Amino acid sequence: MDKFIIKGGRRLTGEVTISGAKNAAVAILPAVILSDEPCIIENVPSISDVNICLRILTEMGAEVANIGKDAYRIDPTTIENFCVPYETARKMRASYYFLGALLGKFNKARVSMPGGCPLGDRPIDQHLKAFAALGAKYTLSQGMIDLKADKLRGSQIFFDVVTVGATMNAMLAAVKAEGLTIIENAAKEPHIVDLANFLNSMGANIMGAGTDVIKIRGVDKLRGCTYAVIPDQIEAGTFMAAIAATKGDAVIKNVIPKHLESITKKMEKIGVNIEQFDDSIHVWVDGPLVKANIKTAPHPGFPTDMQSQIATLLTLAEGTSIITENIWEQRFRYVDELRRMGADITVNGKVALIEGTGKLMGAPVKACDLRAGAALIIAGLAASGVTEIEDIFHIERGYDCMEGKLRALGADIEKISVPDKPQIKSADSKTA
Ligand code: EPU
Repeated sequence: MDKFIIKGGRRLTGEVTISGAKNAAVAILPAVILSDEPCIIENVPSISDVNICLRILTEMGAEVANIGKDAYRIDPTTIENFCVPYETARKMRASYYFLGALLGKFNKARVSMPGGCPLGDRPIDQHLKAFAALGAKYTLSQGMIDLKADKLRGSQIFFDVVTVGATMNAMLAAVKAEGLTIIENAAKEPHIVDLANFLNSMGANIMGAGTDVIKIRGVDKLRGCTYAVIPDQIEAGTFMAAIAATKGDAVIKNVIPKHLESITKKMEKIGVNIEQFDDSIHVWVDGPLVKANIKTAPHPGFPTDMQSQIATLLTLAEGTSIITENIWEQRFRYVDELRRMGADITVNGKVALIEGTGKLMGAPVKACDLRAGAALIIAGLAASGVTEIEDIFHIERGYDCMEGKLRALGADIEKISVPDKPQIKSADSKTA
């Protein structure tokens, strides 16, 4: 079991470079299946969710080669297995993208119901609705989803909720379907646009990605291409919060400032100085941090994936802040851990009330999901004393070399391996 040990109180200064976006990479890698030729994908983050995607592709029979820092050559033409088993799928929510990609290419797929961060009820009814609209039949049994279609035909798909995953899955399944598909009430996140750009680079005909209506005219074939994943908006936002929480002064490189707009606006309100350049931002704090109210919403609203990090920052601000979480019902589970560090936060349903205390104290804490883990790192960096964070495998699902990047900014953080506690056997237990 690995842990992070953080000695807090050091200002973050210098430069940090953001990696490729997790939530784009985990869709683009399965999307390679749709190509009739090998593809090269660059700026792929080195995180465990990506490793799982690459393992699934390999187990299916694709040839996957690491061809330099953060770049992979993937040949999908050798795929002959259309099943993603429970053992792999349960480790990652995004395994559902294999449904859309396999269906779009082979008219069939068998994928275990996905796992991922424990954020409450995570239905996939809208994904299944999109596949059905395109002509696929699905069955659910033994925890597996089976999809089959004689032929996929373009169709009109209206989503009842704005959903990133179902929008991407509908695009994957529709890209080679005969005729025109129109997706309405589509999600508009930067990774939706990135997936569309990748598919178009392979020869797809997708228009409108980034708006709430996406039109896809099906094509017969998709060719190989070289494509670089966009920078991770949430990793950038997490570093912005970490720099601000330590009253630091640093430059964040490899970002698309437009993708950070909602985060930037809130941080400025809190008292963080942000200067934007073409592909980098300068973040510094030289005055007091002040309260703010935040409501999470689909893009271009404030991202739920930044909610816990900004909440941590607000524990250090003056005044009472209100956070409303509108996407995931269990996204305040980090609050108990932050309380252990001295935060004054009350949660009532989807609303959290944060009384800024201006300071946090180090404590042993546990990451309960990816972004909760990021919040605890920020808290540990700003706190007095030592913070030990357990269950950092959650953090490593989505942050590429977090501790190395923070150390380069001057943080005192190290990763240590602690042997798992031995199982206590009863006196009469037998060994096999
Ligand atoms: N929803 C449904 N039915 C569906 C799909 C979604 O009701 O079929 C609901 C969900 O319950 C939720 C809302 O729609 O209330 C939005 O869910 P969405 O489908 O957009 O989420 P997702 O695709 O499962 C992705 C990210 C999450 C991020 C959300 C929202 C990936 C792999 N995951 O999840 O990322 O929070 O979009 O932006 O892209 C993270 O990175 O920490 C993370 C959890």
